[in-house]
Amino acid sequence: MTPVDVLILGASGYGGGELLRWLSMHPAVASLRGTARSHAGRPFHAQHPNLRGLVEGTFEAEPDWAALAQSAHPVLFSALPHGELAKQWPAFQAAWAQLDLAERLTVIDLSADFRLDPGWIYGLVDWQPERMRGARRIANPGCFATALQLALLPLADWKPAFVAVTAATGSSGSGASPSDTTHHPTRADDFRAYKVLQHPHEAEVLRTLAAAGWAAPLSFVPQSAPMVRGIFAVAQFPLPAGIEVGALRARFEAFYRDRFFIRLVEGSPRVAATSGSAFAEIGVAARNGHGAVMVALDNLGKGMAAQAVQNLNLALGLPEHTGLKVAGGWPV
Ligand SMILES: NC(=O)c1ccc[n+]([C@@H]2O[C@H](COP(=O)([O-])OP(=O)(O)OC[C@H]3O[C@@H](n4cnc5c(N)ncnc54)[C@H](OP(=O)(O)O)[C@@H]3O)[C@@H](O)[C@H]2O)c1
Repeated sequence: MTPVDVLILGASGYGGGELLRWLSMHPAVASLRGTARSHAGRPFHAQHPNLRGLVEGTFEAEPDWAALAQSAHPVLFSALPHGELAKQWPAFQAAWAQLDLAERLTVIDLSADFRLDPGWIYGLVDWQPERMRGARRIANPGCFATALQLALLPLADWKPAFVAVTAATGSSGSGASPSDTTHHPTRADDFRAYKVLQHPHEAEVLRTLAAAGWAAPLSFVPQSAPMVRGIFAVAQFPLPAGIEVGALRARFEAFYRDRFFIRLVEGSPRVAATSGSAFAEIGVAARNGHGAVMVALDNLGKGMAAQAVQNLNLALGLPEHTGLKVAGGWPV
């Protein structure tokens, strides 16, 4: 297995911490470094206490491109807030050009900055995994967008006239900086909708559905749930005439037949069963001409860092489950 050297931008955040956790268990990773402006010089475990004793290293103020350029297989993950990588991209490219790094560097961005950019591969790994093989620029999907697309793509050739989707997220979806939407007392016993019918993830979902041949009118109501990790999405739609639950389920079984990290379950998927893992669970139901698809996943796992590592595996030509065959705890 070819050893790779990894630099993570924004390593002190939730996505950065999850990347450190997953990559520390990855057999191809020879070295791990991470940047964070406000924690520079402090050990990784100062922000990520779960990594104490397992992942050595300190946050660095700036990326050390010269050190990364020494690697035969350099890899960059960006877990910066929306807009930051795009802002710094021209300066980064100039630095990489001087070090002959740009072409050799595999970049996986967790933000939305390049998800609609034709120069990047959209990293919805369980849809078209072959697109990731050898890719050097991968834009990892959003967490809601991952759940919605996993629910809707198997329906694309039925082209339902209308799909109504609700999806609830845990508080870690807003990142590590405290805000009104993550503060425990205002969130723990509440349940509310936000960005109703206008969530920014809709654009990437609609683009993928269009590529799959379905110009779906999508009605998406995101919700904020009293949990830390997890997304639970429900899509409802009219079924084609004569389609019962068996045919709906068979369609999902066929679509995800070879997808190790997609589990089809009887009844409802469970957020807690996917927590801390690279798995997404899907359940289906049908009655009286209406279908429902439910998806559960960890927003920081399949919805973010674990999907990014799955993408890295494919980009490097490794088996996609390398370093990812891990179950979360039960109960969480
Ligand atoms: N949370 C989720 O469920 C989720 C899921 C999928 C995708 N995403 C996307 O993944 C990215 C990271 O999300 P996150 O939840 O990990 O965020 P986060 O917890 O807020 O972490 C952001 C990281 O970026 C650094 N940072 C903040 N502002 C910066 C700036 N102006 N310049 C450079 N570094 C800066 C922060 O550390 P310093 O301030 O110390 O530099 C921190 O390390 C975001 O684009 C987010 O939209 C998040």
